[in-house]
Amino acid sequence: MPDSRVASLRRYLVCEPRHFAVRYAINPWMRPDRPVDVLLAQRQWQTLVDTYRDHGHTVENVKPEPGLPDMVFAANAAVVVEGRVFGSLFHAPERRPESVPYEAWFKAEGYEVHHPESVCEGEGDLVSAGRWILAGTGFRTTREAHREVQEYFGVPVIGLTLVDPYFYHLDTALFVLDEENIAYYPEAFSPGSREVLARLYPDAVLATREDAMAFGLNSVSDGRHVFISPGATALAAQLADRGYVPVPVDLSEFQKAGGGIKCCTQEIRS
Ligand code: ARG
Repeated sequence: MPDSRVASLRRYLVCEPRHFAVRYAINPWMRPDRPVDVLLAQRQWQTLVDTYRDHGHTVENVKPEPGLPDMVFAANAAVVVEGRVFGSLFHAPERRPESVPYEAWFKAEGYEVHHPESVCEGEGDLVSAGRWILAGTGFRTTREAHREVQEYFGVPVIGLTLVDPYFYHLDTALFVLDEENIAYYPEAFSPGSREVLARLYPDAVLATREDAMAFGLNSVSDGRHVFISPGATALAAQLADRGYVPVPVDLSEFQKAGGGIKCCTQEIRS
């Protein structure tokens, strides 16, 4: 198996962390009293973008807006499947205005954009997994939004309930490796959701709490390379055993806001 994995070239949307800060607390990682090193954050983010480009991926930029310190987390702004855009309606009032520049970007690029009626946080909770969309709920995105997503795309939506506030978005507890498989942290899910995942993915890579707390499940895979937090060492070793190539990228400053690699990366699926 090693060396049999094939990468496919992706198109990612990102937003430079020019105005990144932790000014409010909407998840347990955020502590507004603890300083963020914005220059370090910018260097870490630039390394992520350079790493994507070095691996052949296309990276597009949305212009960062002042006053929106979480706008760097591009994954939360939409989910794009087959060139159609399902936008976001953020749970926190502080983040609601982010939808405007993101949806404007997609419209300017000629995309059809649907603005949701129910609270929904894009790829933070809606993970496109080839045959279906895995959809988190419990902290942010609602069940009503899951129904709306299924109606819009006509793709089966599989609802999964998150139970641990540290893993408040699905993309902090699970990521897609390729069309066939995923990696996840089982304890982040309700017992029933755990069973659903075990049925759909009997061969999944299971991560430890340490891997999950190091943002190891907030990874991006191109089918071969897995862009992963360097702290998730046990997970990286498991991935290497399965023939994937872990590519460590350190986004430690963003963990202070509860974000990592995947949070900073939205995939535009044509
Ligand atoms: N501070 C942001 C929030 O709580 C972080 C979002 C991280 N993004 C993600 N896809 N998990 O909304």
